[in-house]
Amino acid sequence: MAVQLCEWKELPKNMNNRLHTICSYMAMFPPCVPHYFIEKYTKEGDIVFDPFSGRGTTVLEACLMKRKAMGNDKNILAYLLTKTKCDVPSKGRVISRINGFEKKFNPNNIDITVEDPNIRMIFSDYTLKQLVFLKNNLKWRRNKIDTFISAMVLGIMHGSSNGYLSLSMPNTFSMSPNYVKNYIREHNLHRPNRNAFELLLRKIDRCYQKPITKGKVYNQNAINMSYIKTNSIDLILTSPPYTRVIRYGQFNWIRLWFLSKTGKEIDRDLFFSQSLPKYHDFMLKVLLEMKRVLKAKGKVILIIGDVKERTNENVINLAEEVWKNCAEPLAFKLVEPIIEDSISDDSKVSRIWGTKKGNATKIDRILVLEK
Ligand SMILES: C[S@@+](CC[C@H](N)C(=O)[O-])C[C@H]1O[C@@H](n2cnc3c(N)ncnc32)[C@H](O)[C@@H]1O
Repeated sequence: MAVQLCEWKELPKNMNNRLHTICSYMAMFPPCVPHYFIEKYTKEGDIVFDPFSGRGTTVLEACLMKRKAMGNDKNILAYLLTKTKCDVPSKGRVISRINGFEKKFNPNNIDITVEDPNIRMIFSDYTLKQLVFLKNNLKWRRNKIDTFISAMVLGIMHGSSNGYLSLSMPNTFSMSPNYVKNYIREHNLHRPNRNAFELLLRKIDRCYQKPITKGKVYNQNAINMSYIKTNSIDLILTSPPYTRVIRYGQFNWIRLWFLSKTGKEIDRDLFFSQSLPKYHDFMLKVLLEMKRVLKAKGKVILIIGDVKERTNENVINLAEEVWKNCAEPLAFKLVEPIIEDSISDDSKVSRIWGTKKGNATKIDRILVLEK
């Protein structure tokens, strides 16, 4: 039986923390959701883990609430965004690094003629030279200041106001190159000259805040959690990929260019399937690992949206599918009846793609499981 006790809707959506807004991400959940469940099922010092961490919403909320936070995502973009929230540098050091980059930048040393023409149609030559310079000089894997700056660059890469580097386009996802091409022609759009260094300094004022604790993040397939000790986690809180809905690589191709990756390369490693039995199999493997790493009586919160069948528009209750076919057979307990949450706004970008509708619906369901 489904109930509508969505008490987190009483909380501020972003939990008043600006770090959540560094960069948007497809199918991100609002911070009030993890906040509510972390508060309900853990205490200070407990370990909270999100194996499909996306932009790092769970990890950041857990850090802010003085829990030990762990995240993981196989998508390098999500990994970087989560890493940013795990260890935030001081604002002063970020600002001086941006200023240092601006001093070092010489447009005459940058050749943009070798760049992908699809990227060149989105940014003016002036802006693209700065982007290429930052792309070549930011060492985000080993330096947390550079991680933070990279996340901010990704956050301002494309959008529709003059705070973004691109011509006018959506912020949360990248429209396909062909769609962009036609859109530019039909609307006679011109690539604006925007100064990346200046916009980064404006962005840091909008999104900076320093959390208290640090988290850890991994870049692994969620069916393998071998980097986590058995019986060590208090709460797993996550939203796994749904079947048939989002190609996280392809739909982020512009941001992935900045990380020297293609959408195809990323999608190869992520779960994506049209087949429900394959989804069951994937979630069974994930839940088996979850069971191993959880402490006795540890909880798993899974946020899973309903999806529409491609052929006949039938709606599949994917949360119920996961409970019946994966969690129940693994002897998890259902702690509360499956919660139904109807999404009232357009934050769920998985429902739109260009002019086409995606297969996600307005209903998310929440499974609360116990080991
Ligand atoms: C629904 S999104 C999570 C969004 C996140 N809750 C947020 O607020 O940003 C699902 C995530 O699963 C990741 N993913 C897909 N297949 C994966 C796999 N096999 N292993 C690890 N991560 C995967 C995707 O890259 C995506 O970031």
